[in-house]
Amino acid sequence: MKIKKAVIPCAGQGTRFLPATKVVAKELLPVYAKPIIHYIVEEAALSGIERVIFVTSSGKDSILDYFDHNLSLQSFLERKGDTERLAQMRQLSEMVEIVSVRQKHQLGLGHAILQAADLVGDEPFAVLLGDDMIDSKVPCIKQMMRVWNKYHKAVVATFPVPHDQVDRYGIVAGPRIDKRVIQVKQMVEKPKPEDAPGNMAIIGHYILPPQIFRLLKSQRAGVGGEIQLTDALVRLNRSQGVLAYEFDGDRYDAGDVFGFIQANIMHAMKDPAMRPKLEELFRRIISDQPTA
Ligand code: G1P
Repeated sequence: MKIKKAVIPCAGQGTRFLPATKVVAKELLPVYAKPIIHYIVEEAALSGIERVIFVTSSGKDSILDYFDHNLSLQSFLERKGDTERLAQMRQLSEMVEIVSVRQKHQLGLGHAILQAADLVGDEPFAVLLGDDMIDSKVPCIKQMMRVWNKYHKAVVATFPVPHDQVDRYGIVAGPRIDKRVIQVKQMVEKPKPEDAPGNMAIIGHYILPPQIFRLLKSQRAGVGGEIQLTDALVRLNRSQGVLAYEFDGDRYDAGDVFGFIQANIMHAMKDPAMRPKLEELFRRIISDQPTA
C-alpha cells in the first residue's frame, strides 16, 4: 500500500531556543533561507506524500499560516510585479495538502502521534520529527518507503552516534539483513550508556503500520514520565517485527543549538553565491586565532 500521509508532531515548546520561541514556533526558525519545517514538509512532498498532518499545540497556528495562501501578500507582490516571489509563495502553499490536530496535553511523542489516529485511518504512514533535518540526494523518507515496500514492516531511521550520547535517543540493535537494514532485536528509549545495547540511534523518521495506534492507546508512560513511541515499537516488534534503516545522507539536529548553527552553515555553503563569502569568513576567523 502506498504511503500517502505523514504525521509531523509540532507541539513541543522549544525551550532550548528561548527567548525567540516565546513568540515564534521553533519549527519556523530559519535554517539559511527557509524555516526548519519547510525542509521537513518538502522532504515529505518529494517522497510522494500527499497529505501532511501536523500535531500542534496552542501558539503553533503560525505553522499552518506558513503553508497557507496569504492573499494580501500575494496581491502586494502582484502589484509590485515581483513575479518570481509571487510564484514561490504560490508554490509553497500548494506543495502538499495540510491538515492539523491539537495535542492538548504534552504527554510525549507517542501521545502526540496518537492524536493523528483518526486522520491517518487504517493505512501505513510516515512520521517526521521537526528536529531531524536530513540532507540527502534521495529524500530519507523515500529511501525508507522502499524498505517498507520490500519487507512490509515498520521502519525507523537509524544512524550511529557517539556512545556517550546514547541517552538522548532511542537505541536499536540487531543483525543486519541487508547493507543498510537491521532486523531490530533490542530497542530502548534513552538508555544510560552502560545499559545501551549499542550506539545505533533512532533518528526522527519512521514508517509505521496503523496497528501502532492500538498499542499507543494502551501504552504506559516510560522514560521522563512520557508516552514513548519507542516503547510502543518494542511491543510492535514482538508481534510483527520492526526494521531499522541506516539512511544515506547527512543529519542535522535542528533541536540543538550547535546542530541548528551547523545546519545553517551547511545549507548556506550549498548556495554558490554564499560559499566564497563564508570560506573567506572562516579563513579570517581561523587566522585570527592565536596559535598555541
Ligand atoms: C525522540 C524519540 C527518540 C529519537 C529522537 C530522535 O526523542 O523518542 O527515540 O531517538 O526523537 O530525534 P526526543 O528527541 O523527542 O526526546
